[in-house]
Amino acid sequence: MHLTVINKFKLKGCILGVMQKHIISMRDFSRDEIDIILEKARTFEPVARGGSSSLLSGKILATLFFEPSTRTRLSFDTAMKRLGGNVIDLGALEASSVAKGESLADTIRVIASYADAIVLRHPKEGAARMAAEYSSVPIINAGDGAGHHPTQMLLDLYTIMRESSLSGLRIALVGDLKYGRTVHSLAYALSLYHADVTLVSPQQLKMPDVIKKDLEKQGAHIRETTRIEDVIGDIDVLYVTRIQKERFPDPAEYLKVSGSYRITEKLLEKANDNLIIMHPLPRVDEIDPAVDKTGYARYFEQSFYGVPVRMAVLAMAMGAK
Ligand code: NCD
Repeated sequence: MHLTVINKFKLKGCILGVMQKHIISMRDFSRDEIDIILEKARTFEPVARGGSSSLLSGKILATLFFEPSTRTRLSFDTAMKRLGGNVIDLGALEASSVAKGESLADTIRVIASYADAIVLRHPKEGAARMAAEYSSVPIINAGDGAGHHPTQMLLDLYTIMRESSLSGLRIALVGDLKYGRTVHSLAYALSLYHADVTLVSPQQLKMPDVIKKDLEKQGAHIRETTRIEDVIGDIDVLYVTRIQKERFPDPAEYLKVSGSYRITEKLLEKANDNLIIMHPLPRVDEIDPAVDKTGYARYFEQSFYGVPVRMAVLAMAMGAK
């Protein structure tokens, strides 16, 4: 772990404006640190909604996406630019030296000498941690295979804070809990907030035991079921995920579980009035588009909240006060 301590205050991990470090997994954060980031994001919301700031003027962010992305890449880009900074982008892999066989380690070493922070998305679990070993600037993990997606976790918590409540939260995580990195990161974070969590998935896509054991060790209250109908009337947040087709070693296995869940207006007849539905997006067929116009839908707000939250993350990573 490469830490650059800027002043004498020291918490478990990364602190806004105090320390620069890599953001690799949810475990890099304590509850206090998450709360600081969420508060900071709140102050950035007016800037995210069309304002501008010069906080990161003169700074450069590099975005390296070895897997497809719309929201994560463009919300980091937007966040950086609205804070007055610049963005360099590896662009299409075919157009970079990756196509000539350059290793991730060499790519990172070089880009770290151009930029003040690097956002990395990679299909291999552990890639961001490995990249951090070679980087002289903070690495921000934007998804490493089926591993983690810590900035999505932060924006998910922020969405809950803004649109519902983190205290006394009852939440169901639905869909692909085996390969879905967003729910891996979010489940850890929810245990810090003592949320009541129900895991809803087909048998084949259950949350990995290693994560469940860790959560139980932290005192999390977890239930598991295969049916949304079992929980829909008892929750405040329904967090829906896409079945991660690209991570299945055998396409026939994907076909067995694809279309397992579909949120419809009919299903929502049994929901609490104050329920909110979240989804990290992209959705394929998990949420009927007719649900978009109901008062439950919050997934588009959720993707907007990626901007203020990533502003807070960038300010932290680049040591801005
Ligand atoms: C998620 C991801 O890439 O893990 N998308 C995102 O970052 N908003 C979820 C997904 O692809 O299903």
